[in-house]
Amino acid sequence: MAEAGRPLVGVADLRVRFPTPRGPIDAVRGVSFTLGAERLDIVGESGSGRSTLGRALLQLVPPPDEVAAERLVVDDIDVLRADPGTLRELSGGRASVVLQDPNSP
Ligand SMILES: Nc1ncnc2c1ncn2[C@@H]1O[C@H](COP(=O)(O)OP(=O)(O)OP(=O)(O)O)[C@@H](O)[C@H]1O
Ligand SMILES: [Mg+2]
Repeated sequence: MAEAGRPLVGVADLRVRFPTPRGPIDAVRGVSFTLGAERLDIVGESGSGRSTLGRALLQLVPPPDEVAAERLVVDDIDVLRADPGTLRELSGGRASVVLQDPNSP
């Protein structure tokens, strides 16, 4: 468990774009938040990008995708610059994304 006050997740201006034959879909447009040892509820209508946001935190967005952020740090790991082994260690044990429908793409 994290000590009180230490940020576990730091996100600044997170953007996720999916190129599609009909043009790009901007699924996440400039999300910023900091999260410590607390709960954060993100509310939005279907298709508003909540699952994509959760996946992006652990570099689990399906390709072809474009994930960009000023800052994307989870448990002191710079997710956009981490090597695959570090990401596996992070998403295999220290952090998880649990989607409401794990079978959906
Ligand atoms: N792999 C993908 N390729 C292209 N577009 C995608 C992909 N994944 C998600 N999208 C699009 O990105 C947008 C956000 O989808 P996301 O699944 O993150 O929404 P959500 O808030 O979790 O909604 P819900 O869970 O109710 O479907 C939607 O327009 C969706 O169609
Ligand atoms: Mg979802």
